[in-house]
Amino acid sequence: MAGVLLTILAFLLVLPSATAIGKVCGNAGNYTANGTYQSNLASVAATLPNNTSSLPQLFANATAGQGADAVYALALCRGDMTNNLTGCSDCVAGSFRYAQRMCPNDRAASVYDDGCLVGFSNRNFLVPANNNVTQDTSTLFEFWNPGSLAGNATLVSAGVRDLLAQTAQEAANNNGTPARFATAVMDASASATQTLYSMAQCTPDLSAGDCLSCLRWLIGMVNDTTSVRKGGRILVLRCNVRFETNMFNEGPPMKRITPSSSGPPAPPVPAPTPDKRSGIKPWVIPLIVAPPLAVVAICFIFYCCWKRRRNRKGNLRLRRKHANKLQAGDELDWEMEAELSEFSGQFPEGIEIAVKRLASHSGQGFIEFKNEVQLIAKLQHTNLVRLLGCCSQEEEKILVYEYLPNKSLDFFIFDENRKSLLDWNKRLAIIEGIAEGLLYLHKHSRLRVIHRDLKPSNILLDSELNPKISDFGLAKIFSSNNIEESTTRRVVGTYGYMAPEYASEGLFSIKSDVFSFGVLVLEILSGKRNSGSHECGDFINILGYAWQLYEEERWSELVDSSLVTMSHSAEMRRCMNIGLLCVQENAADRPTMLDVVAMLSSKTKILAEPKHPAYFNVRVGNEETPTTTKSCSINEMTISVTTPR
Ligand SMILES: *[C@@H]1O[C@H](CO)[C@@H](O)[C@H](O)[C@H]1NC(C)=O
Ligand SMILES: *[C@@H]1O[C@H](CO)[C@@H](O)[C@H](O)[C@H]1NC(C)=O
Ligand SMILES: *[C@@H]1O[C@H](CO)[C@@H](O)[C@H](O)[C@H]1NC(C)=O
Ligand SMILES: *[C@@H]1O[C@H](CO)[C@@H](O)[C@H](O)[C@H]1NC(C)=O
Ligand SMILES: *[C@@H]1O[C@H](CO)[C@@H](O)[C@H](O)[C@H]1NC(C)=O
Ligand SMILES: *[C@@H]1O[C@H](CO)[C@@H](O)[C@H](O)[C@H]1NC(C)=O
Ligand SMILES: *[C@@H]1O[C@H](CO)[C@@H](O)[C@H](O)[C@H]1NC(C)=O
Ligand SMILES: *[C@@H]1O[C@H](CO)[C@@H](O)[C@H](O)[C@H]1NC(C)=O
Ligand SMILES: *[C@@H]1O[C@H](CO)[C@@H](O)[C@H](O)[C@H]1NC(C)=O
Repeated sequence: MAGVLLTILAFLLVLPSATAIGKVCGNAGNYTANGTYQSNLASVAATLPNNTSSLPQLFANATAGQGADAVYALALCRGDMTNNLTGCSDCVAGSFRYAQRMCPNDRAASVYDDGCLVGFSNRNFLVPANNNVTQDTSTLFEFWNPGSLAGNATLVSAGVRDLLAQTAQEAANNNGTPARFATAVMDASASATQTLYSMAQCTPDLSAGDCLSCLRWLIGMVNDTTSVRKGGRILVLRCNVRFETNMFNEGPPMKRITPSSSGPPAPPVPAPTPDKRSGIKPWVIPLIVAPPLAVVAICFIFYCCWKRRRNRKGNLRLRRKHANKLQAGDELDWEMEAELSEFSGQFPEGIEIAVKRLASHSGQGFIEFKNEVQLIAKLQHTNLVRLLGCCSQEEEKILVYEYLPNKSLDFFIFDENRKSLLDWNKRLAIIEGIAEGLLYLHKHSRLRVIHRDLKPSNILLDSELNPKISDFGLAKIFSSNNIEESTTRRVVGTYGYMAPEYASEGLFSIKSDVFSFGVLVLEILSGKRNSGSHECGDFINILGYAWQLYEEERWSELVDSSLVTMSHSAEMRRCMNIGLLCVQENAADRPTMLDVVAMLSSKTKILAEPKHPAYFNVRVGNEETPTTTKSCSINEMTISVTTPR
C-alpha cells in the first residue's frame, strides 16, 4: 500500500509540466532510442529554456547535430511573460518533457502551453524562407472553449472576427520588445454582450507582412460556430491568436479595440467595478504581484546612471547587462541611453514605464533629490500613478513612473469623438477616484502632499479607465517644503486651475488643490475646458458661467450633451454643487477633500449652497483689450483679481 502511495506522489510531482494545452506530434518518423538524434534533442531541450527567457524577445532557436541527426528547434514565450522569466524558462523546459511523454521518439513535435510554445523537427524550419511559414498546416492546433457567447450570433461573430483582425494588425506592427505581440480588449456593446480579451503573437523573426498573413490565415479558420465560442485559440509554431471572456494576460491589455464597422460606436458598459462580494478587489491583484517588481525597479533606479550618453536621438533602451535570473533585491546594472525628453519605454522585464524629464534646476544635489523621490515613491494609492524612481546625471533629472496605456483625462473629455466613451457612471467614478487620491495625498499619506498642479492632463486613466493622479509631489521635490500652508516665490501650476490666492500671492494650501479639483469636476461634467475658446456667457471661464446657470436652475445647460441628462440628473446636479463649493472664491469657504469624499459618497446629505466662485467679478467686458467674441480666454487676468483675505 505504501508503495502505491509513493508511486502516486512521485507521479504528481512530475505532473505540473503537463499543463500544456495541446501538442501536434510530427509525422517524420521515430528516432532510435539512445541514438545521436536523441542526444541532440536533449541538447536543444537543455539550451532553449535558458536562452528563450534570457533574450529580450522571449524567442530563441537552436540547432544541434548535423546531417540526418540534426535537430532544429524553437521556443517562444507569451509576449507578456517579460516579468516572469522563470515562468518562461520553466514553461519551455516543461514543454520539452511533455513532448517526450506525448510524442515518444518522435523526430518532430509542437507543444502549445499557456505561457509558451516549443517546436522541433529534423527539417530546418527555422529559416522562414525555407518554410511556408504563413501557412504551415503541419503544426496547426485549435482549442475552443465550451459554451457560446450570449447575443445575436451574427453580430457576436462579426465582433469576434473584428477584434481578432485588429489585434493581429497591432501585433504585426509591433516592433517593440517583444515584437509581433499584442493584447487587446473590446468592450461589451449592443452586439457583443460581453467584454472580450484577445491576443495575437508571431515569432519576432517574422517580418510584419509575414506575421500579418500568418495571423490572417489563422483568423480565416474561425468559422461561424467557433467565433461565438466563449474563447478559443488557434496556433501554429510561427503565429497564434486567442480570445477569452476573461483577462488572461499579465498586465492590462495593450489596446482598446473599438468596432471598425461604421455607425456610432455603442457606448461601452462601465468597466467591471470592484467585486464587493469577494474579498479581493481587482486592484489588489496588481498590488500583490507588483511589489517584487517595484522593488526591482526601485533597486534599478537607484543604481541607474548614464555611463555614457552615446546617442542623444536614440529611443529609450534599458538593457540589463548581466542576464541574471531576476530576483527582488538583485543588484542590477543598467545602461540607459535616452532621448532626454518625455517618453515611454519598456523594461526587458515588461514593466512598462513612463519617463519624465524635469527641467534642470540647480541647488539640489542628487542625494537630496533622491531622498525626496524615495519619500514620494512611498505614496501608494490605487488612484495615484506610481513613481518608481529617478535617475540623475549632473543637472539632468529624470523621474520614472508606471506607464498607463490610456492617456490622460483631457484626451477623452475634450474630444468630440472620445467623449462618448465616458458615460456618466464612468465620469462619476473618475471624479470619486480623483477625490480619493487627493484625500490620500492631503490627509492619509504621512507626507501631506499638496499637488499644486491638478488638471485633466495630470489625471491618467488605466485600462479600465480608472483615474490615477500623476505628477504629485513634484512641487515638493522642487521645494522640499513641508509646511501645510506656505508661500512660494515660484508659482508652479497652470492658469485656469489655480486658486486665486495661489495665482496672485503664491499662497498655497490644501484648499488650493480643492479649488483645482472643483475646476476638474466642472470640466468633467461639462466636457468643456475651463479656459478655452467656447461660450461662457460674460465670464472669463467656466466657473462664473456654471455658477450663474446653477443659481438660475439652468444647470443642465452646462452638462455635456453626450451625457443623457435625464437618467442621472440628481447625481449630476449634486456633482455640480460640489464642484461649485470647491471653487468658491474664499479658500475658507471651500470644503476639504474629506468633506468632498463624504459628500460624494452620500446621496442624501444636504449640500451647502455655493457662494460665487473665484474670478466671478472679472468679466470679459471689463477687459481693456477689445474682445470680439464672448469666449473664455486663458490670459493672465487671474493675476489682477483681488483675493479675499
Ligand atoms: C514510434 O514510437 C512509438 C513509441 O515508441 C510507437 O508507438 C510508434 O508506433 C512508432 N512509430 C513509428 C512510425 O515507428
Ligand atoms: C537506453 O538507455 C537507457 C538508460 O541508459 C537504458 O535503460 C535503455 O535500455 C537504453 N535503450 C536502448 C534501446 O538501448
Ligand atoms: C543562460 O544563457 C546565457 C546567455 O544565453 C548565459 O550567459 C548563461 O550562462 C546561461 N545560463 C545557464 C544556467 O545555462
Ligand atoms: C543559447 O545558449 C547557448 C548555451 O548557453 C549559447 O551558446 C548560445 O549562444 C545561445 N544562443 C543565443 C541565441 O543566445
Ligand atoms: C536561428 O534562426 C536564424 C534564421 O532565422 C538562423 O540564421 C540562425 O542561425 C538560427 N540559430 C540557430 C542557433 O540555429
Ligand atoms: C509565471 O509563468 C508560469 C508559467 O506560465 C505560471 O504558472 C505562473 O503563474 C507565472 N507566475 C506569475 C507570477 O505570473
Ligand atoms: C503555402 O501553402 C499553402 C497551402 O499549402 C499554399 O496555398 C500556398 O501557395 C503556399 N505558399 C507558398 C509561398 O508556397
Ligand atoms: C441578428 O442581427 C442581424 C443584423 O442586425 C439581423 O439581421 C438578424 O435578424 C438578427 N438575428 C436575430 C436572431 O435576432
Ligand atoms: C468550424 O471549425 C471547427 C474547428 O475547426 C470545425 O470542427 C467545425 O466543423 C467548423 N464548423 C463549420 C460550420 O464549418
